[in-house]
Amino acid sequence: MTSVRSNGQPKRVFIRTYGCQMNVYDSDRMADALRPLGYALATAPEQADLVVLNTCHIREHASEKVYSELGRMRDLKVERRAAGADLTIAVAGCVAQAEGEEIARRQPAVDIVVGPQAYHRLPQLLAEAERRVALRKAGKRLPGAGVLDTDFPAESKFDHLPAPQGVRAGSAFLSIQEGCDKFCTFCVVPYTRGAEYSRPVAKVLAEARQLVAAGAIEITLLGQNVNAYHGEAEDGSIWSLGRLIRALAEIEAVARIRYTTSHPRDMDDELIAAHRDVPQLMPYLHLPVQSGSDRILEAMNRRHDRALFLGIVDRLRAARPDLALSSDFIVGFPGESDADFDETMRLVEQVGFAAAFSFKYSRRPGTPGAALDGQVPEAVKSARLAALQSLLGQQARTFNACKIGRIVPVLFAEPGRKAGQLIGKTPWLQSVHGEGNARLIGRIVDVHLTAAHANSLAGEIVTGSYEVAA
Ligand code: SAH
Ligand code: SF4
Ligand code: F3S
Repeated sequence: MTSVRSNGQPKRVFIRTYGCQMNVYDSDRMADALRPLGYALATAPEQADLVVLNTCHIREHASEKVYSELGRMRDLKVERRAAGADLTIAVAGCVAQAEGEEIARRQPAVDIVVGPQAYHRLPQLLAEAERRVALRKAGKRLPGAGVLDTDFPAESKFDHLPAPQGVRAGSAFLSIQEGCDKFCTFCVVPYTRGAEYSRPVAKVLAEARQLVAAGAIEITLLGQNVNAYHGEAEDGSIWSLGRLIRALAEIEAVARIRYTTSHPRDMDDELIAAHRDVPQLMPYLHLPVQSGSDRILEAMNRRHDRALFLGIVDRLRAARPDLALSSDFIVGFPGESDADFDETMRLVEQVGFAAAFSFKYSRRPGTPGAALDGQVPEAVKSARLAALQSLLGQQARTFNACKIGRIVPVLFAEPGRKAGQLIGKTPWLQSVHGEGNARLIGRIVDVHLTAAHANSLAGEIVTGSYEVAA
């Protein structure tokens, strides 16, 4: 397979990532897998020989975006071919898994469709796509559309992908678990990512050490159901997430540990105790509840009720009093009445969230929810979402405001929009803007918080808090 263009320049890949953090992690790993083939990263499709769209299927809107983007890529490919060059188009991620054949039918310009568990096979798929292009150029008619690989292979992609290369600004994602066996009735994830799988403990710890060696001081453990983690250790015992976090905290230079996304059902004692005992485990937890109504939670097959969620919140707060909670909410699930929605509002009032994501229910083909009676009219969903978001927005502003005047450690991640400005995160995952030298990116610095806005805080770097470490 050729790794250079005919003009001798290295080939370039542009990867566009949609959806969750697991896709962000996977996109990096795809780039790692393509590097040995000679592909450097491009920052725009116009500069690329290969475009990968790493897609999300979670709501209808997310999936439809992919087809409009593919239309643009097709136009680019036509332009390229007119100029005697080419563009390879690959679709990865959850839309690839869910709609493989349909993608090829709706957009014949697509060369490769690859599901989330088959990324380690990208090099073979690319070689096959190149072979097809060569045959087509030679005037051969080929059966079928592009190259399709949406199997759930017996082997784990993690064991075949190269080790992660490089770390951005001190912070790294580490996927430890993938897939889901919960089958909430609204959700596509069990179908797009497949059955739940936990990576072995030794592999996770080895990858964490590599990330630290590459400059990570913050590690965010990822999984569609990360706290269902049950990885096998070398002695054959099974480790929970709580145990894994304790082991990670022993790696020197790991200053911050986070994990996402959790399910209330899997919040066990060992994990709650880790929030009490492990200072590196940040006081922020994303714990999706979806609804405050037991009737709706049951219809959603969430396997937890309101009381179980509230009980966990109490235990977490007893373990770590300054814990900030965020959550996901769905409004307008089939059968949701005004009274059910009201229970969601009451739950929000009772808990007090620092941040949240909330969505209108989106009917996903193939999920049990799509076939339920009592689909809620769009206008009702919109009104409920507006009411919920207004309450959640108020709580987020209150939470941000309560930190004003405090000096908190901020991990700076990137330059801000204004010259000389940096953006970073507090332990509670709030965004902070402050004036500072770009060499502070990737480091934890004390910041005096001076003002709160809707989605962020402003602060002043405490001089002297970083020179010591310089
Ligand atoms: N694994 C996580 C969530 C993964 S999906 C969990 O167990 O909660 C991220 C969020 O998208 C979900 O928490 C849910 O709030 C939302 N979501 C999933 N399917 C949806 C649908 N069909 N319509 C609207 N929102 C949905
Ligand atoms: Fe989807 Fe439910 Fe699994 Fe989360 S737990 S990924 S919402 S099926
Ligand atoms: Fe989307 Fe798949 Fe993640 S559907 S949210 S990219 S697991």
